[in-house]
Amino acid sequence: MIIAPSVLSLDYCDTKKQIEELNASGAQWMHYDVMDGNFVPNLSFGPDILKAFCRISPLYKDVHLMVNDPNTYADVFIDAGAQLITFHYEAVSEDAIRPLAKKIHDRGVKAGLSIKPDTPVEVLEPYVNDFDLFLIMSVEPGFGGQKFRENAPEKIRALKSLLNTKQSHALVEVDGGINAQTGKLCADAGVDVLVAGSYVFKNTIREAVKSLCE
Ligand code: DX5
Ligand code: ZN
Repeated sequence: MIIAPSVLSLDYCDTKKQIEELNASGAQWMHYDVMDGNFVPNLSFGPDILKAFCRISPLYKDVHLMVNDPNTYADVFIDAGAQLITFHYEAVSEDAIRPLAKKIHDRGVKAGLSIKPDTPVEVLEPYVNDFDLFLIMSVEPGFGGQKFRENAPEKIRALKSLLNTKQSHALVEVDGGINAQTGKLCADAGVDVLVAGSYVFKNTIREAVKSLCE
């Protein structure tokens, strides 16, 4: 299981210390949420914070774009150090999805496609061989600390089965309301990457990460 703590929930008064704890926690990825106040009703980080985090953390930089213009911001965050760029199916037109995946790949970065809780898994079917990762949102994107949506494990199962049928090796990631209990439900459904924000940063970071791996 890959654990990807979401730095949206870190204590911004204690950023450096918490990132150092994260580096030593056993988590492999850092999940970095980008919000534009438009695709979602919240604002988060720009590229300069990612550049700073790259200087103090060797963790894999998993950038989740919750923006209406992922075409522009993919480049901005690749320049800032992203190693994986995930954008939303709901933010772009169907004919823009493959070209954007290709553009991200041409820059030597992995590409992911995400769906919101009410978007069915079937919409991903045409794209299963175009992406390295699919992100199932288990809360409405925009804020940390929300309740896990119960339909996520069945969506993970359906997606894993679709990927198997199409011989895709893409990873499946889940994001929103993940703690030791909901993480276990997703692990049982076959998820590869668990994103967790408030659960990791409102507890002892190392203990929380460890509990997600069990
Ligand atoms: C929500 C973000 C999440 C968020 C998760 O829109 O995409 O990554 O940080 O936070 P928790 O784990 O607290 O639900
Ligand atoms: Zn996220």
